Parts: sequence; C-alpha cells; structure tokens
Amino acid sequence: MHLEKLNFFRNCPEDLLAVSSLLKAGQAVALPTETVYGLAADALNELAVRQIFEIKGRPLIDPLIVHILDVPQAKALAELSPAAEKLAQAFWPGPLTLVLPKKAIVPALVTAGQSSVALRSPSHSLFRKILEISGLSLAAPSANPFGYISPTRAEHVQRSLKAKAPYILDGGSCEHGLESTILLLSNAQAPRILRPGPISSEAIEAVLGQALSTELPTNNKAQAPLLAPGMLSQHYSPNTQLCLIDYGASLPSEAQTARVFWQKPHDLSHPNTFWLSDDGDEKTAAHNFYHLLQSLDSLGFSRLYWEKAPQGLLTQAINNRLVRAAAKFSKH
Ligand code: TXA
Ligand code: MG
Repeated sequence: MHLEKLNFFRNCPEDLLAVSSLLKAGQAVALPTETVYGLAADALNELAVRQIFEIKGRPLIDPLIVHILDVPQAKALAELSPAAEKLAQAFWPGPLTLVLPKKAIVPALVTAGQSSVALRSPSHSLFRKILEISGLSLAAPSANPFGYISPTRAEHVQRSLKAKAPYILDGGSCEHGLESTILLLSNAQAPRILRPGPISSEAIEAVLGQALSTELPTNNKAQAPLLAPGMLSQHYSPNTQLCLIDYGASLPSEAQTARVFWQKPHDLSHPNTFWLSDDGDEKTAAHNFYHLLQSLDSLGFSRLYWEKAPQGLLTQAINNRLVRAAAKFSKH
C-alpha cells in the first residue's frame, strides 16, 4: 500500500476510530478545526504534548490551547468565573479561546509554566467527533512549523511539516481561515484581547456588558513568563519577500512579482494579479487569506505586493497577521 494513503484519514467511521486510537496512544495527529488545522495530542499526556513542540520546532515558553467538547469538560481543567461561563455559552462551540486560571491537572508543559490555561471548544464537526470518541482534552497549536504560515487545508500541513506529522485527518478547507480570538480572563486584570480573530471585541463586550481593556499586552523579554507569548512581532511568515501596501494605494507592477488586492481590481492587465474576494466581503477574504499566502509562497515570485485590508471588524485580525508576516522583511 502507498504510504501517503495510510497517513491521510478521512470522514468515515473507521478512520475516525483510528485517529482516536492514535491520540489515545499518545500520538500527535493534525486535525481540521473551523479556524485553521491544529496539531493535536492528549493534553494530559506530557510525552504526547512534547511531540507537538518537537514537530513544530516551537519554543517551550509558548503555551498551547486545549480543546474541549463543552463547559463541564472545561471545568475539569480551569476555573470558570460567571463571565467565562457567559462567554462560553454565547460563543462555544466556536472560535473564541478563553485564558483562565488553570487547575493542577493540566501539565505545566501545556501552559509553559503559567498559572493560566487557554481553552476553546471547536465547532468543526470532525474535531468534535474525535473529542467525543476519544474522551480526551486535546492540546493543539496550529499545524505549521513555528513561525511559518498557518494551514487551512490538509495539503498545507503535509507540505510544511512533511514526514514530521505523519497523521492528518482531512476535513477540507477551514471555514474561518484565521485563528481564534484569544481573550485573557484572569481574576486580577480587566479582560483583554490577546489575539484578534473571528469573534470581534464588540461582540464580546456586548455579552460581557463591559468594555475590554485596550492596554496592549507587553512582551518585554525581562518579563517571564510572558503574558501573551503568542503576540510575537514576527510570525506567520512566508519565505517569499512580503511587502505591504496601504489599502487603496497603487500596487507596483514589476516583473517576477505578484500583486494581491483586497478585492477584484478593474485592471487585470498585469499577469500576476490576485485578490482575496471578488466583492470585498471580509469573511471570504479571511477564508482565502492563508491559502493564497501559502500558494503564492510556493510559486517562486521574487516579491509579493499585498494590499492591506480596509477598516472593519474582521479586517483588524487580517492586518494583524499581515503585519507580523511581513515583519521579518522589514528588518535591516
Ligand atoms: O484557532 C486557533 O486558536 C488554532 C486552532 C488549532 O484551534 N490554534 C492556534 O494555536 O492558533 P497556536 O498555538 O498557534 O496559538 C495559540 C496562542 C499562542 O500564541 C499562545 O502563546 C497563546 O495562544 N496562549 C496559549 N496559552 C496561553 C496562556 N495561558 N496565556 C496566554 N497566551 C496563551
Ligand atoms: Mg500558530
């Protein structure tokens, strides 16, 4: 039998059982979520969790999100305040991660030694089936090498992690296409967004009935552990040089370069012209974002000129990814 066929699991009862057995045996498996693909392992098995860090080349100071089926499972791992319960009721299952005071059962490896744990209940039907069949809580960062573009299709995982991630459950392309919104809900501080995502701060404020703190998390190197380890200024980077252009400004048309517009431009005369959506719809643009970045990164262009997103709720999350993806090219 061809090895590749063995590694790609699909949505059928035998494959879901096989994936669940691998996870229970302590293997890491790439699974689809409604945001991006995650590299999942049993959150309460330290050896399994260690594999995630090794496969991704992820520093041990960067904690993982634990995925759970529902609120009762969340309560086994963390303290849920009334505000946390309200948010879970409003947005779970879905793309909201809550950073909460952790319980002792969660290994320090998962939380990078912090006293908080990040929890989210994914809505993707395949991920939920795996949670149900296995009964596990699953630690899962995005299934990409540390610092590279996040995967929104099974083939992105295969292309970037190769043989390091031999087991992939193929669930097609991810609906949202951007990682979950992360909200810090500690007892000591006002709630604040650590990473913008599909759930807007306005939607969270409406449920909480209070304004979120807008103070930015600091990533001062002297501060350990980091409050928001994931807010590294450089992340999600392609190998091809990425050059951001303000929304509405003109994009250079040079040979060997690609131009990426927010929405379909009128002038299609330049051969390497791409766009995130036909009509400027932000959900479509977010859905296509990482896939287009992944695809263009493999086509051998010397540079990608990329128009930033206009003002909008979801576009803040897209620009956040773009700025960090371009950061490595603006260093001298
Ligand atoms: O949509 C998502 O959230 C995807 C899917 C797979 O669920 N996961 C994801 O994981 O984006 P990852 O590891 O790529 O990003 C998680 C971020 C990291 O930046 C990490 O530093 C932060 O969450 N994080 C995890 N635990 C934390 C904690 N206790 N306190 C603060 N930040 C935390
Ligand atoms: Mg990631």
